[in-house]
Amino acid sequence: MIESTPRHSRIAGTGSALPPRRVDNVELAAELAERGIDTSDAWIVERTGIRARHFAAPEVNASDLAVQAARHALEAAGLQGSDIDLIVVATSTPDMTFPSTATIVQRKLGIVHGCPALDVQAVCSGFIYATTVADAMIRTGSARHALVIGAEVFSRILNFDDRTTCVLFGDGAGAVVLSASDTPGILATDLHADGRHLDILCTPGVVARGGVLGDPFLRMDGQAVFKLAVGVLESTARTVLEKAGRRETDIDWLVPHQANIRIMQSTARKLKLPMDKVIVTVDRHGNTSAASIPLAFDEAVRSGRIQRGDTVLLEGVGGGFTWGAVLLDF
Ligand code: ACO
Repeated sequence: MIESTPRHSRIAGTGSALPPRRVDNVELAAELAERGIDTSDAWIVERTGIRARHFAAPEVNASDLAVQAARHALEAAGLQGSDIDLIVVATSTPDMTFPSTATIVQRKLGIVHGCPALDVQAVCSGFIYATTVADAMIRTGSARHALVIGAEVFSRILNFDDRTTCVLFGDGAGAVVLSASDTPGILATDLHADGRHLDILCTPGVVARGGVLGDPFLRMDGQAVFKLAVGVLESTARTVLEKAGRRETDIDWLVPHQANIRIMQSTARKLKLPMDKVIVTVDRHGNTSAASIPLAFDEAVRSGRIQRGDTVLLEGVGGGFTWGAVLLDF
């Protein structure tokens, strides 16, 4: 029998996970001072809005956080691992060079019926890319229930002798179950990349000959990233609204990538959205890269801010340079 192709995908449940160790700016500044690195709570809060982040214990990998977030999302969706027929994990801090973190998640969740599992690498835009891939596979009938996860242990690639980057990032994971639906959930998606800017945000080391060749730590030209980010976040928001035939005034909630409160404020201003319509977790999570959007989304759902039927704009920007947006009815 040929199954009719579902026309839409919809978020059936959300989940997230944070490692228990919370490090506030004061504690981080004290640790950095011991290494001779000068920073302060006041500088970090003023320039970024970050007050604290979570760091995973050394034995905890991205897949461990991903599995916790996935279990919460499955429970919220009322589904079992055996119902899942696609796993997409967005991460830049995978457990291993290969196989993919998605296959490790599949194994840890005990999903044994052979569904496809793949990683997506688009740094902080990873969850937007992963959702777009899963949405396309559901709409073409290749999957009915997809686990879409963003999971990171960015603390592993931070250089704690570089105060311009190490204060910005944290660890965590967020997940959604995306299911085939007769009613629209995901309304439109928009993805972009421009490899000309890859040098402004990268972790350039490569695994070779039994070790990492080159620099294993994250490097960023913060001001260059900032300037590009504010421009592309506005343009991708407008594109995705136009594709869906919606307007700025239709947006109930903006869930942006959580990198810097000033970037979020600028995007909100350009879209004429008051800040009370913007979900902000950067103050408590720092920048968790591919995990930041689903983490923020899940927190807002569980706290009752985002409700069923709300129109939500997700948007991300990250290394590559990559950027994109997803507009959805929750
Ligand atoms: N503590 C104290 N002082 C600091 C620190 C720190 N942690 N870091 C930098 N400084 C100093 C600098 O050395 C500089 O000192 P100087 O004037 O004596 O040279 C001064 O503070 C100002 O530095 P700037 O780089 O100009 O600070 P800016 O206001 O641009 O803020 C920041 C830096 C927070 C990185 C900002 O540029 C930013 O948020 N950029 C965007 C980052 C981003 O969005 N990333 C998203 C993608 S992430 C991904 O894809 C993985």
